[in-house]
Amino acid sequence: MLITKYYQTDELSQAANELRLGELVAFPTETVYGLGAVATNEKAVKRVYLAKGRPSDNPLIVTVDSVETAKKYILDLPAEANLLFEKFWPGSLTLIFKIKPGSLPSVVTGGLKTAAFRMPNNPVTRELIHLVGEPLVGPSANSSGKPSPTTAQHVMHDLEGRIAGIVDDGPAQVGVESTILDLSTAIPTVLRPGAVTVEELESVLGCEINSEKKQVDINEVPKAPGMKYKHYAPDAQVVIVNENQWSDALEWAQKNTHQFGVMATENILTKISTKSHSIQLFSLGTDVTTATQKLFEGLRYFPEEMEYILVQSFPEKGVGAAYMNRLKKAAGNYFFEN
Ligand code: TXA
Ligand code: MG
Repeated sequence: MLITKYYQTDELSQAANELRLGELVAFPTETVYGLGAVATNEKAVKRVYLAKGRPSDNPLIVTVDSVETAKKYILDLPAEANLLFEKFWPGSLTLIFKIKPGSLPSVVTGGLKTAAFRMPNNPVTRELIHLVGEPLVGPSANSSGKPSPTTAQHVMHDLEGRIAGIVDDGPAQVGVESTILDLSTAIPTVLRPGAVTVEELESVLGCEINSEKKQVDINEVPKAPGMKYKHYAPDAQVVIVNENQWSDALEWAQKNTHQFGVMATENILTKISTKSHSIQLFSLGTDVTTATQKLFEGLRYFPEEMEYILVQSFPEKGVGAAYMNRLKKAAGNYFFEN
């Protein structure tokens, strides 16, 4: 067993040394914490899969500190890429490109001819990558199947003893993983919704793009390979509650369960009586933005004996699309209906 250290943001050179030695170090990003290893070090990358318990056919994101670094690997840069780099990098947009054959180990790409690249909007992590001098793979730093970590403590909970350290930069600002846009196909396709929305991408590119919703309509569902695995699921059954159904849902839960949790914004929580010992509350703050920041923390918050967690739904607009995408996965699409 390794002793997993917390690194403060002024201890980056120590963290960079561990990475250069082939060790694993988790790093903060504005979306969620990532699990870093030097992307060109095959042995280190293999250990990332082991530490997470991740299926080995699920490729990893290559995390860079500059556009120039990403360009070293990309084959035939598509014209629209520069527009996206300018507008969204650094930021919560991961881009998939065809890569130069052999430029990255196949453990990184899962044997695909493409790879995913991201430049996080967190200066601490860009400095860390700069000190290492090589890009880092950066899957979310959770055990496979658990909600992605939005604090250094979540990472410690999942990976203590399996990694050398965690750079602690406090809670992640966005709270859900980056938008993934595939630029290796004829029509750019969103494989995973995130804080950068389909509408924003379409307005910058000046054309329509494919997204999950549209693909379901045309009955063609290529997705990020990782999306086929069970995700974000706590032990309790998550139940999604629409706006006008809270009183019915609470009544149902009081009658049918011994213990249940509620995740909702303050305006809803203040109306719930906590006299009963069977209810535990978790605040999602004030609106869809704070709810997205706190969603994964909430899914990790409740004790194991909880049977149900009732969680507030939001309209699938803006970041609400990413929030609902993750929530539906956590719930296995289970909506409260009366
Ligand atoms: O916000 C994020 O993107 C975070 C932070 C840490 O950067 N990272 C993250 O990585 O969410 P991960 O590995 O948990 O999710 C990456 C997703 C996986 O579903 C994987 O299947 C997909 O990206 N992916 C990676 N390379 C791909 C490729 N070449 N083609 C299609 N999907 C790919
Ligand atoms: Mg992940």
